Amino acid sequence: MKIAFSKAAAPAGMALIVPAFEDGAPSAAQAALEAATSGALGKALKAANFTGKKAQALELIGLQGAEETRIIMIGAGKRADFTALDAESVGGAGVAPLLRTQEKSAVVLADGFSTEKVGAGEAAARIAFGARLRSYRFDKYRTRLEKDQKPALEKLTINTPAADAKTKFAALDKIADGVVLTRDLVSEPPNVLYPESFAARCKELEALGLKVTVLGAKEMQKLGMGMLLGVGQGSARESKLVAMEWMGGKKGAAPVAFVGKGVCFDTGGISLKPGPGMEDMKWDMGGAGAVTGAMAALAGRKAKANVVGVIGLVENMPDGAAQRPSDIVTSMSGQTVEILNTDAEGRLVLGDAVWWTQEKYKPKTMIDLATLTGAIIISLAHEYAGLFTQDDKLADQLQAASAASGDPLWRMPLAKAHFDLIKSDVADMKNIGPREGGSSTAAAFIGKFVKDGQSWAHLDIAGMAWNSKDKPICPKGGSGFGVRLLDEYIRANCE
Ligand code: BES
Ligand code: MN
Ligand code: ZN
Repeated sequence: MKIAFSKAAAPAGMALIVPAFEDGAPSAAQAALEAATSGALGKALKAANFTGKKAQALELIGLQGAEETRIIMIGAGKRADFTALDAESVGGAGVAPLLRTQEKSAVVLADGFSTEKVGAGEAAARIAFGARLRSYRFDKYRTRLEKDQKPALEKLTINTPAADAKTKFAALDKIADGVVLTRDLVSEPPNVLYPESFAARCKELEALGLKVTVLGAKEMQKLGMGMLLGVGQGSARESKLVAMEWMGGKKGAAPVAFVGKGVCFDTGGISLKPGPGMEDMKWDMGGAGAVTGAMAALAGRKAKANVVGVIGLVENMPDGAAQRPSDIVTSMSGQTVEILNTDAEGRLVLGDAVWWTQEKYKPKTMIDLATLTGAIIISLAHEYAGLFTQDDKLADQLQAASAASGDPLWRMPLAKAHFDLIKSDVADMKNIGPREGGSSTAAAFIGKFVKDGQSWAHLDIAGMAWNSKDKPICPKGGSGFGVRLLDEYIRANCE
């Protein structure tokens, strides 16, 4: 879909998206529409109880006097409350009904959209951003779709008097590229996306100016990554570790590091998961997907910061060669781990990945993302990702980035008590704690591989990587959670 910004009035005969506030006068464009339809628009809105409340949507077809093929009214809420994130939702909700039609082009009337909290150019750009994200489809394996089952929308024009909408959108468009990449990666089936093919996709990002290094099993063996390799040893696919470097900041300055869990499929291993729902474990690489998308976004918009993204890629399979409950493995850090449940594999991958990241890059801050525990979904539903850190300043920065980006986070506890719960009788630690507090003990396990004094946060995104229903700026499926959060964290704190 092509996106354009225009100051000219919308040409007749196409679909219109009309955002409307709950209070104050209607926009000039809406007033013109009201006049052209001799008041029919106002009557229709009244009859349908459309007041402009947030998230209200009304599709009007065949209004007398209107030359438009259809008019989609979108509630924008109270003018004084309207934020940049609300503008994104307006764009997404506005375009959603069109995706079920054969409309080829549409115009958003955003002329009155300058409020206390968001300027006109920013609002128009965010409307476009939301529309683009909502229009995402993952159709590549559907070979028998009829023409009328595919969205036809080719062009979306945002009408705004603001001169800066286009430049404001340019950066958002790169962030959307990153979100789309993450959604694609998360949506791919595991027979297509496995460690080696995932690494190959990362390599393609060199076209954006990223430096991409791939380590194979032999190299990881030499480095002593017994934890990560133990997870992959039951799989026919070779495990990989990928590092993506974007050095757009001061030469030689320590980078921020993002580290992602990339379990391309998680059967649970010998501690096999039950069959129903196991298909969800194709997106157990959601942390790695988010890190990859964020790196693409940062490189795409040429962020003025040094950032590295490291992802541990494995497949957790049961097999004659698979690791067993009661195995003891040695990590790259030298610490030993008693494996009591082979389904608690993400922390094993991340432990070695974060250790390697610290040794190699000495990052000033390290943030890991992982679809780590079912327990975080019990705690936070599909509403927030869990934020675990003992660094209060980093917690504040991440929560601010969360609020600004729209990727919701909720801080969870990580205390000495949680570290005590993973003590083992036979090794330096065990890979599971008791059933209670499962997300905090999982975080503590990763914490065992974080050096003293290293600023670090862990984000458990198990409840957020996949949407089971449509949301305003995200159709159901892979969400791309984390890309906007990480991008905003860098923008606000490192540039
Ligand atoms: N990948 C899962 C966590 C998960 C569950 C992600 C549901 C998304 C949706 C993880 O590897 C896992 O299996 N965790 C176990 C840990 C347990 C064995 C201590 C879990 O949460 O049950
Ligand atoms: Mn698992
Ligand atoms: Zn897993």
